[in-house]
Amino acid sequence: MTKNMDYPSNDITGQKPLNNSLLNNKIMVQGLNLYYGDNQALKTIDIDVYENKITALIGPSGCGKSTFLRCLNRMNDLISSVRVEGTVIIDGKNIYDKDVDEVSVRKRVGMVFQQPNPFPKSIYDNVSYAPLKHGMVKKGHKCDDLVEKSLLQAGLWNEVKDKLAQPGTSLSGGQQQRLCIARTIAVQPDVILMDEPTSALDPISTEKIETLMLELKEKYTIVIVTHNMQQAGRVADHTAFFHMGELIEYADTETIFINPGRKKTEDYITGRYG
Ligand SMILES: Nc1ncnc2c1ncn2[C@@H]1O[C@H](COP(=O)(O)OP(=O)(O)OP(=O)(O)O)[C@@H](O)[C@H]1O
Ligand SMILES: [Mg+2]
Repeated sequence: MTKNMDYPSNDITGQKPLNNSLLNNKIMVQGLNLYYGDNQALKTIDIDVYENKITALIGPSGCGKSTFLRCLNRMNDLISSVRVEGTVIIDGKNIYDKDVDEVSVRKRVGMVFQQPNPFPKSIYDNVSYAPLKHGMVKKGHKCDDLVEKSLLQAGLWNEVKDKLAQPGTSLSGGQQQRLCIARTIAVQPDVILMDEPTSALDPISTEKIETLMLELKEKYTIVIVTHNMQQAGRVADHTAFFHMGELIEYADTETIFINPGRKKTEDYITGRYG
């Protein structure tokens, strides 16, 4: 159950409340504070992310969306000035506990970035690199099968099956982004984080990624940062609105866009600032 939040609009409209008992908590964030040196970028965030759903994070530039996303797989550990307080519980275990290895967290919680960033390697190697490194498969048939399955799931197989030895960077931007998704899927994560995954792509590639996300949520839990509110409306089950490091409102996407409970949310979605 999400704490410290109220959902007046749900009560008014009778829409399905976010804390519906049919939803399974995948990630429970409690009292999360994050500081870059003295600058507090996230302020007491409490939010539950639900399994096999797409959760969108929206809000003005600099409000902490990427920072929050990186907390979900401990990517912020790579920044030396960062201090994190609070808990991020995934499948019942706080990923910030001392006995948790951040590499294993990043294997379970994969990430796709704004700029497609394939390795300077072949299409095949881009997908097989991490599974081989983690010892999930050995070179050979099993590895070939995993590469094919991952590219199929990422909706890229038909376009690349005859040129797996070509460099990943030889693909178009949209194809490169689907290659990065295939690379993420190949390590069989539970959760996929996407930070503005389509902002560098044309509308047709964007539509392909959105369709893909809707397919992928059957197997994965997806958290996406987007500046494109139509995109959040099209793909996200739930939407969280951040402002200046605070989580202002979190509800069903429809509620956020049609009947937000907070004035700040309404101002943002109607384009009054941001
Ligand atoms: N590596 C860093 N070191 C210091 N401060 C940072 C760092 N990354 C982000 N910040 C600060 O944290 C705050 C939140 O930044 P963040 O990148 O999370 O915002 P955002 O919502 O993702 O913005 P955008 O929509 O522009 O991507 C900002 O004030 C930013 O300056
Ligand atoms: Mg960002």
